[in-house]
Amino acid sequence: MRLDKAVTAAGISRKDAKRLIAAGRVTVDDRPARDPGLQLSSASRVALDGETLILRLHTHVMLNKPAGYVSATQDAHGLPVITELLPEALSRLPLGPVGRLDRDVTGLMLLTTDGQLAHRLISPRHGHVKRYEAVCEGKLDENCVLRFAEGMELGDFTAKPAVLTITEELDGATRCLVEISEGKFHQVKRMFEKIGHPIIRLKRVAIAGVFLDEALEEGQCRLLTNDEAARLYAAAGLEME
Ligand code: URA
Repeated sequence: MRLDKAVTAAGISRKDAKRLIAAGRVTVDDRPARDPGLQLSSASRVALDGETLILRLHTHVMLNKPAGYVSATQDAHGLPVITELLPEALSRLPLGPVGRLDRDVTGLMLLTTDGQLAHRLISPRHGHVKRYEAVCEGKLDENCVLRFAEGMELGDFTAKPAVLTITEELDGATRCLVEISEGKFHQVKRMFEKIGHPIIRLKRVAIAGVFLDEALEEGQCRLLTNDEAARLYAAAGLEME
């Protein structure tokens, strides 16, 4: 791998990598390396200001999905897809979405180049918790909280127990948080329909302990930090590369 590639693989932008290499702040095996094209071996130790860089083979991104986008890399009907929101440098990578959100649903979408990680995170067998902020019609009460906690018969499947927390009473509506450990088609909407309180707005805010960065406007994305990526790999029971 080239030195500049290796530095960007540690989560540093291409522009910064170029600057840091030119400034002699990047070392390879403890010697300053100013040639961005320097070929590294698998044993090379790359450091920035003396600190060893963790080189990532894979790229993981969080996106604040706006309404109107399909959670896919392409759409047969020509509808806008979430990968169109990625900056050019990321759009060249084979990033795929981790699960789906309905077109009208907003919030946290993870995209990764690691297919095995994506598979583990969406597999119902692993039961990773997904948290949503919801606004639904009418006034929720403790009975609704109990219905979610008991699990719910939805016709083609029985939803596992879910956690419903009422956070605010609005005019003719209720704001709440929902945590589910599955991700069946329209699951949250169907659970609210079932208790007679259709969803007005739905936004995902967390997956497996990784929270949507509140600094991201709708349509914006950023790379996951090492810590966030490590949390996902740990939740998926996989070694981080
Ligand atoms: N539940 C839904 O109903 N829709 C989503 O997009 C996600 C969860």
